[in-house]
Amino acid sequence: MVNWSELAAGRTARLKPSAIREILKLTQRGDVISFAGGLPAPELFPVNAIRSAAERVLRDHGSAALQYSTTEGHPPLREWVASRYAGVGAEAVQIVSGSQQGLDLVAKCYLDPGDAVAVAAPTYPGALRAFDAYEVRYREVEIDDDGLVPASLQHALDDGVKLIYVIANFDNPTGVSLSLPRRHAVVDLARRYGVPIFEDNPYGDLRFEGHDLPHLLDLAPELVIHAGTFSKIMVPGFRLAWLVAPAEAMEPIRKAKQAADLHTSTFVQYVALEVARDGFLDERVTVVREHYRGRRDLMLGALERCLGEGFRWTRPAGGMFVWISVPDGLDTTVLAKDAVQAGVAYVPGEAFYGTGRGTDGLRLSYSVATPEQIDSGIARLAAILNGTTPPPASE
Ligand SMILES: Cc1ncc(COP(=O)(O)O)c(C=O)c1O
Repeated sequence: MVNWSELAAGRTARLKPSAIREILKLTQRGDVISFAGGLPAPELFPVNAIRSAAERVLRDHGSAALQYSTTEGHPPLREWVASRYAGVGAEAVQIVSGSQQGLDLVAKCYLDPGDAVAVAAPTYPGALRAFDAYEVRYREVEIDDDGLVPASLQHALDDGVKLIYVIANFDNPTGVSLSLPRRHAVVDLARRYGVPIFEDNPYGDLRFEGHDLPHLLDLAPELVIHAGTFSKIMVPGFRLAWLVAPAEAMEPIRKAKQAADLHTSTFVQYVALEVARDGFLDERVTVVREHYRGRRDLMLGALERCLGEGFRWTRPAGGMFVWISVPDGLDTTVLAKDAVQAGVAYVPGEAFYGTGRGTDGLRLSYSVATPEQIDSGIARLAAILNGTTPPPASE
């Protein structure tokens, strides 16, 4: 008999299941309104466009699209990606199987056991889980309504940091964006300390108002590894994303990608490009933005109506998430169970910290809820948070 748990490599002790997936399991009960998952709205998936694109790809490029291909990615797709950035050539683009793979590859290539990564507190748990496998430590950086606080980042850098992880646009979990002055401050600090930045940008195209701000990549191309993805603007099931990085930085990443999976699905790359080309995707993104903007407005309106004194929440200008800070004395991990009993689910703040903090916050997503679910779900949630009797779950 083989004892698999004894045989498992030491690093597997650090692999934790996603707290969010555990909560999502609880929400399978039919009458629970879930603001927990951050899934894109499935009714926005361009199914017909994907069907006809797949047919055209098979008709016109059948054998090439079904063959092994290069690790770097399908050259015309790399060109399409490069054309979306100022001053980036196709050679700087590496196609990856989801930004999640990008996080893993970068950590594999640049983080040794014991290295410290500067992360916002709170931050995207998927990044923490990807980094955990490489036995790193975290230096938490405070954020406010303008994103990472430079003094706090500097404090972390003074303690010795190997990589800075930043979600500059419509952050997961807070919905907050890094302001323009802060973008400059963050790259200035990174330059001064000679520390690279991983800029994770899944939500940048989902802006509801205001103007696009420069990527950190635009401000400091020499020290930024930038990740973009098709997950939130096309479909997440393609597992298709990209990295942009300086040639020297990309070298080990390419080798690691080759060792991991040779290359990202050739067929998926062909089909995604076929859907994206000729401006279809840009038109589609306008529809996606309008949809989420409407849901965001409904959720903010409901929070305004229902939550009592002492609660604060973010007002995201894009993306999919709102973060609620609760008054002293409330514990969002404990209350999550009462909330599910009352028929509503959220993600407790603890899931977004590397260090066990966060019981004073929670994340809501408005991406998949219907308008009726937002109204009724926020009423139930508010009752739990305000300590009043929740309306019946059938309401
Ligand atoms: C901040 C952040 N990074 C990365 C990802 C994963 O993206 P992908 O589907 O491209 O792997 C997500 C998905 O929710 C995310 O919120």
